[in-house]
Amino acid sequence: MAATSIRYASKPENKSTIYLVNTGEAPAIKGLKKEQQDFIAAQQANNNSSYYFPHQDTIVFVSVPEVKKDQLHLTHENCRKAGHVLCGMVNKMKLDTVQIVNQSAIEQAQIYFAEGLVLSNYQFIKYFKDAAKKKNSLKQVIVTGNDATKKEVDQLAIVAESLFAVRDMVNEPVLSFNSVDLGKMVLKTAKSYGFKAEVWNKKKIVANQFGGLLAVNMGSVVEPTFSILEWKPANAKNKAPIVLVGKGVTYDTGGLSLKPTPDSMDHMKCDMTGAATVLGTFMAIAKAKLNLHVIGLIPSTDNRINGAEYTPGDIIKMHNGLFVEVLNTDAEGRMILADALSYASRFKPELVVDIATLTGAAARAIGPWGHAIMGNAGEEVLKEFKKAGEEVHERAVEMPFWEDYAEKMRSSIADLKNVGGADGGAMTAGKFLEFFTDYPYVHNDIAGCSFTNAEMSYRGKGGTGYGMRFLYRFLKNRAR
Ligand code: BES
Ligand code: ZN
Ligand code: ZN
Repeated sequence: MAATSIRYASKPENKSTIYLVNTGEAPAIKGLKKEQQDFIAAQQANNNSSYYFPHQDTIVFVSVPEVKKDQLHLTHENCRKAGHVLCGMVNKMKLDTVQIVNQSAIEQAQIYFAEGLVLSNYQFIKYFKDAAKKKNSLKQVIVTGNDATKKEVDQLAIVAESLFAVRDMVNEPVLSFNSVDLGKMVLKTAKSYGFKAEVWNKKKIVANQFGGLLAVNMGSVVEPTFSILEWKPANAKNKAPIVLVGKGVTYDTGGLSLKPTPDSMDHMKCDMTGAATVLGTFMAIAKAKLNLHVIGLIPSTDNRINGAEYTPGDIIKMHNGLFVEVLNTDAEGRMILADALSYASRFKPELVVDIATLTGAAARAIGPWGHAIMGNAGEEVLKEFKKAGEEVHERAVEMPFWEDYAEKMRSSIADLKNVGGADGGAMTAGKFLEFFTDYPYVHNDIAGCSFTNAEMSYRGKGGTGYGMRFLYRFLKNRAR
C-alpha cells in the first residue's frame, strides 16, 4: 500500500485539525460556541484523552498524550499511541486530510504523534474482493507550525514509505512471495531507489559453496536466492562498510522437524522479516542519501519438505569450511545466515549486523515488547543500538554472549551442531553464528516482534515491519 502522504505547513490551514493539548487543558480555538465549550468541559471532567466535535465546516479533534515525568522517550511513545487512537477517529469520520497543531508542552509532540497516526493508517487489504470499500479515508496528514521542522516531516515520510513496503512483503504469503520473488523485489527496488544490487541464482550459490543455504533449500521446489545490496555514496563517512544481513526464510514449516500448526507454523510467512527489514532500510538510506557505505546480504529460501529435504543427522559443509551436524531442521535460520556472515568477511567490514526471526526462545524471554541483541562489537556499539532502539521504541535488550553458550554448540561428530539444548536458546543461536564471523558483530533476534495476531497500537496487526525503524535510526545516528 502507498504510504499516507505527509507534508509540512508553516501555518495551520482551514482544515479539520487535531489539537494536542496538556492534561487538564482545553484546546485554544477561536469562535467556539457555548455548547462546544460545554462539550469540551464534559470531556475534561471525564478525563477523556481523545474526542472530537464539528466546528464550522471542519471537525476538531482533541488528543491529550500522557506525560511520563522525566522519561521523554516514553512520553514520545505515548504521543505515537495517541496518534494511533486518533487515526481510528479520523477514518471513522471519513476525512481524507487532517492537520496537527501542538498546543501541549511536550517537546516535539507533533512529529511523534504524526508517526503514530501515519503508521496506523497502513492496511493490507488486497485479498478482499471489496477492498475499495474497506480502504481508510485518510490520505494526507499535515504537520503545522514550529514544533516540527520540514526536515523531520520528510524523514517521517521516508520511514513510513519504507516501513509499509516491509509490512507488505511480510504480509504477502509464500505462494505469492517466495525466494525468487524476493530477489526480483530487490532488483526492482534497487533500480527505483538508486542503489546497487545483484541477485544470485542457485547455480551461483552452488558455485560459491553456500552449503547451509543449499541444505535448507533441498526440501523446496523453489530455487534459493542470495541478494547483495550496496549503497556507496561518494561522501561516505566510513572507510570500511557496515554490512546488514537479513534472514530471508520465506516460509518455515520446520522441515522434517515439523512445527505444530496453531500459533506456530501458521504465521511463518513472517520468517523473512529480517530480509524485508534490510531491503526497507536500504530504501530509506538511499532516499535520505545517508553518507554511509552500507552493504546488505539476504540469503533466501523456504524451509519445507518435498522428499529430498535435509534431515536430522545430516552433516553439512558450510561456506567457511566448518561442518555442521543438523539435529533439528527447524533451526534453519542459522544455517542460511552462517553462509551470508561468512561471505560478509570479504568486504573487510567495520561492523556486521544481522537481523532475524531466529528463535522462539528470544520471543519467550522478552515477549513482543522489545527484542534480543547480543554481540562482540563492544559496549560502545551496543550502546548505540540500545539508544536507537529507545528513540524509535523498538527496544533492544542486551543478552549475555558468553563462551559457555558456544560450548553448547560443539558436536561429537563435526565442528558444530545446529542446536544447543533447552537452555539459553537465543544465545546459543547467536554464538553459533559467531563461529562464521571474523569482524565486529552484532546479532538482533526479532522473533517475538515480527508478527502479531492482535492489533498492537501503531504496529498494527499482521506483519509489523519491526526492525526497519531501528536499523535505519542506528545508521542515521552514525551518519551525522
Ligand atoms: N523461525 C523460527 C523462529 C520463530 C519463532 C520466528 C517464533 C518467529 C516466531 C526458527 O527458525 C525456529 O524454528 N527456531 C527454533 C530453533 C530450535 C529448533 C533450536 C525454535 O526457536 O524453536
Ligand atoms: Zn525454524
Ligand atoms: Zn525460521
